[in-house]
Amino acid sequence: MKNIRDIDIREKKVLIRVDFNVPLDGQGNITDDIRIRGVLPTINHALDENAKIIICSHMGRPKGQRKEELSLAPAAKRLSRLISKEVRLAPDCVGPEVKAMVEAMQPGDVILLENLRFHAEEQANDENFSRELAALADVYINDAFAVAHRAHASVVGVTKFSKQCGAGFLLQKEMDYFHRSVSNPMRPLVAIVGGAKVSSKLGALRNLMDRVDKMIIGGAMASTFLKSMGYEMGQSKVEDDLLETARELIDKAKAQGVKLYLPVDCIVADRFEARAESKRVTIQEVPKEWTVLDIGPATTTLFTEALEDARTIIWNGPMGAFEIDAFSRGTMAMVQSVARSHALTIVGGGDTDVAVHQAGESSNISYISTGGGAFLMLMEGKKLPGVDALEQCK
Ligand code: 3PG
Repeated sequence: MKNIRDIDIREKKVLIRVDFNVPLDGQGNITDDIRIRGVLPTINHALDENAKIIICSHMGRPKGQRKEELSLAPAAKRLSRLISKEVRLAPDCVGPEVKAMVEAMQPGDVILLENLRFHAEEQANDENFSRELAALADVYINDAFAVAHRAHASVVGVTKFSKQCGAGFLLQKEMDYFHRSVSNPMRPLVAIVGGAKVSSKLGALRNLMDRVDKMIIGGAMASTFLKSMGYEMGQSKVEDDLLETARELIDKAKAQGVKLYLPVDCIVADRFEARAESKRVTIQEVPKEWTVLDIGPATTTLFTEALEDARTIIWNGPMGAFEIDAFSRGTMAMVQSVARSHALTIVGGGDTDVAVHQAGESSNISYISTGGGAFLMLMEGKKLPGVDALEQCK
């Protein structure tokens, strides 16, 4: 896969696919601009090369309809502030008006095209739409790791019609870190997997079981594993249809010599609410009418000890309902343990990045991925369509 440095973009028209799908408050203000900051190295390189920079992105899921609340206007404003340069927002992403705007560009100009998903053709990976996007520029650069798991027109189709394609620095960095953490890791490699459901992480759990030395499972999904071992989990979310699968994964870990760590104690509550009554119990003592909402202190110690000799740690998914203070201690303690580790530490998706930022520990993690679904797909051992398309490209 070529990257932007391998391609001559000097004064050329460069179409850069980014993921500016950033969270907004109700008033259209960006509440977290990490995805915009993430592509600055690529945009600054294009500026250094005096390229004509045409940026495109999606925002939300407007389902092919023009929805003003999902306009990329706030992103254009924020990018403009970050690069200290005017960023003009095009009225659309294709069509004669956009074409004319691009034709009038001078070297060093920056345009942000309007939300790609205002056209249903984007998600349909439509050929004509892909061709129209490609025709805007001389070179196509994909720097949108967070959407590289979607076979959409601006991610996949466009590469077929572009004269030259390559990866931006963010996409490259994400792939490099992932490779260092899972394909070719320093060992012991420890995976921490948490979050709500086994079903959404099944592919990742199966794939990681073949690669890791230790697997730590926390979050609500641990209840399904514990129930499959015969423990009563009260009112906790258990996926009964996956009890057999959980058992198989436990057996697989044993057969492959993977050390599997599950909670030994937990915080239970009489209801899923901030004001709920809560207490610490062992896994054997979960009351019938109560719900497990966090890992307990003995589990935190067990998990922390399991990380001690790690040389690589990959983490996806919180240990409990950390959005409620009363049930955030387990996740926050794991953030501290991972941040203090001397291992290469990679965190991605499943709200884990939110927990790391909340704890103020982002600078103590080796790499925080900007992708949720894309990161999970890599954890499943699958190829990302967006990366695959770049590799096929000339
Ligand atoms: C994300 O936020 O995960 C990416 O921008 C992809 O968004 P999507 O799930 O709507 O395709």
